[in-house]
Amino acid sequence: MGHPVAIEVRNVSKRYSDDPGLAPALDHVSVDIADNEFFTLLGPSGCGKTTLLRTIAGFEHVSDGEIRLAGEPVNDLPPFKRRVNTVFQSYALFPHMSVAQNIAFGLEMQGLDRKLIPQRVDEMLALVQMQHLARRKPAELSGGQQQRVALARALAPKPKVLLLDEPLSALDLKLRKEMQVELKRVQKEAGITFIFVTHDQEEALTLSDRIAVMSAGKILQIGTPNDIYERPQHQFVAQFIGDINFLPGHLKRGQNNEHLFVPSGMPVEIPCPAQGIDGKVQLAFRPERSQLVDPAQPHHLRGVIEAVLYVGTATLYQCRLNNDIKVMLRENNEGLNRSRGVGDRVAVNLPPHACLLMEA
Ligand SMILES: Nc1ncnc2c1ncn2[C@@H]1O[C@H](COP(=O)(O)OP(=O)(O)O)[C@@H](O)[C@H]1O
Ligand SMILES: [Mg+2]
Repeated sequence: MGHPVAIEVRNVSKRYSDDPGLAPALDHVSVDIADNEFFTLLGPSGCGKTTLLRTIAGFEHVSDGEIRLAGEPVNDLPPFKRRVNTVFQSYALFPHMSVAQNIAFGLEMQGLDRKLIPQRVDEMLALVQMQHLARRKPAELSGGQQQRVALARALAPKPKVLLLDEPLSALDLKLRKEMQVELKRVQKEAGITFIFVTHDQEEALTLSDRIAVMSAGKILQIGTPNDIYERPQHQFVAQFIGDINFLPGHLKRGQNNEHLFVPSGMPVEIPCPAQGIDGKVQLAFRPERSQLVDPAQPHHLRGVIEAVLYVGTATLYQCRLNNDIKVMLRENNEGLNRSRGVGDRVAVNLPPHACLLMEA
């Protein structure tokens, strides 16, 4: 019977040094990861992603807190006694062994009955679609193929949890997109919990059931890709995932008790939902959720176009608002001729559902 929660991380802190002046690599991190979940740790370099993986794998002791795997506390279990395996960015394949031998290696270490090994190797080769290359050596494979072998080797001993530390970051963009689709398929077919580390927000949105956004040793927000993009709870999260504009200002009540946002330095009031914040706030909005319209409309921000960037599927307009704040707007290109250009005076329509309010 599987435990419905594969991994519980409870209030885990990790300090590499006793120097109290140094910030901990992990600072009171708590998260539950479900069985068969594709869970992603996303954050900038140095925020503690690898450290969190290493504490789950057992390569690092936690300084404080507890980790449970399938309900069992594992703080004192060495790595080889945890049903957890890791795929590294560097692949770390054995160069003198064939693809099949690389995959068999972990099974031999595990002490699997020798008669059963060839069949398990074949299953794994099929899972990553590498049957035809079983006899090749790693040096005779492309980067994407090597990554598949590393994946098959890590999955062969049937771990409960697979940890993947930026496994795609060495691949070029096109191959990386292909491998993303592959990873997702393999994860669902193998029915294994994946904890995937990336600093690439688009990769995180594409692959994950849920994402934890990390910064400076802390988890700031955990949610589905939709939650994280549509309802970021911190400025850091909003900025790290996708593009976003910020306007400082304050909230006030209108005549009918509705909420209005008043941007600093502009004589305009923008209807918005209150979202439980009062007084001084930041209003955040995504470039694709607001529209450029002709000036002279009420409730609109006003400004001038400073730059027009054509990016194929869309055109980006950089506007300097009348209060001197720059915002970026995105319009999909649908074969229409654009008549707006640098120097044009415009208004920005900000529908209430596009407004995200955050603490200033
Ligand atoms: N073995 C180590 N000894 C000392 N400090 C370390 C060690 N590994 C990581 N750190 C520090 O811990 C912090 C988090 O690092 P890491 O977990 O590797 O971040 P990420 O994987 O998100 O880039 C960084 O400040 C890093 O310098
Ligand atoms: Mg790392």
